[in-house]
Amino acid sequence: MTIDLKGKSLVVTGGGTGIGAETAIVAAEAGMRVCLCGRRMPPLEETVERIRSSGGEAIAVKLDVTDPDSESHLLDAAEEAFGTPWAVFANAGRGLNRPVHETTDAEMQAIFEVNFFATHRLLAEAARRMISHEQGGHLLACASCLSRFSIPRHGPYAATKASQDMLCQAMRLELKPHGIHVSSVHPITTRTEFFDVAAAHSGTSDYRAIEETPKLFVQSGRRVGKAVVRCLRKPRPEVWTSGMVRMATAARCLFPKLFDGKIKNLNR
Ligand SMILES: NC(=O)c1ccc[n+]([C@@H]2O[C@H](COP(=O)([O-])OP(=O)(O)OC[C@H]3O[C@@H](n4cnc5c(N)ncnc54)[C@H](OP(=O)(O)O)[C@@H]3O)[C@@H](O)[C@H]2O)c1
Repeated sequence: MTIDLKGKSLVVTGGGTGIGAETAIVAAEAGMRVCLCGRRMPPLEETVERIRSSGGEAIAVKLDVTDPDSESHLLDAAEEAFGTPWAVFANAGRGLNRPVHETTDAEMQAIFEVNFFATHRLLAEAARRMISHEQGGHLLACASCLSRFSIPRHGPYAATKASQDMLCQAMRLELKPHGIHVSSVHPITTRTEFFDVAAAHSGTSDYRAIEETPKLFVQSGRRVGKAVVRCLRKPRPEVWTSGMVRMATAARCLFPKLFDGKIKNLNR
């Protein structure tokens, strides 16, 4: 099945920068009308301007996805501008570079609030609206390859991503009878502001997650954006942008000891 995206609308959280911005731009190139949100207006306006200057349609909504009712506010704004959204991409998120035993309860709750609870609130509200409109749709969440394995100092982050992944797996089965597709997105290391934001939240200048990753496993935000839009056209359960990493996650399930041995040299 191939879906014609022309004229359909897409909501993207965290659409001002990185993967969210690139997805919005590629989607607009495919004819989608895009509603973006984030806490900072300047990057959102920049993405909107890039889309409009190429003849596309986009609006920006300034909000914090962790605020109560922000999901309703965002979906109302999208609906008012472009009608009921066809697709909603819960992409806003951040990292934390911290060993699990050094992570405070407050830090764990804060990262779950943005990465997991905000994803749940948005996708659940979008699903309820799509069900009542009886016209199907597509829900996506930006998880990570770290939803399937973890590495030292990224346990809290990986836990939020595994939780998003599980949410998508269940929603996919629950919403199928309503014609609603659900996909999880699993990028590998992607050159974005993500690493600066994670370092700032962790109070460190720890950039090892990107500096020590072999170039083969580092990609651009646009590559992820293109993969997401391909999935919007031809819906499938999961979006992976590295076949090799995907295979490694499958091998880890069968041979965890072997996998730990390969990962342990990162524990410095
Ligand atoms: N970069 C990677 O290597 C990588 C790999 C796998 C998965 N991911 C996932 O990809 C997603 C996008 O990250 P990215 O790499 O594109 O990094 P990014 O450029 O830092 O993008 C994160 C976006 O989320 C927005 N955001 C953060 N907190 C928010 C909040 N409370 N309310 C509203 N918006 C918020 C940020 O905008 P404001 O600051 O203006 O709010 C920003 O636009 C994240 O879920 C991340 O976990 C990234």
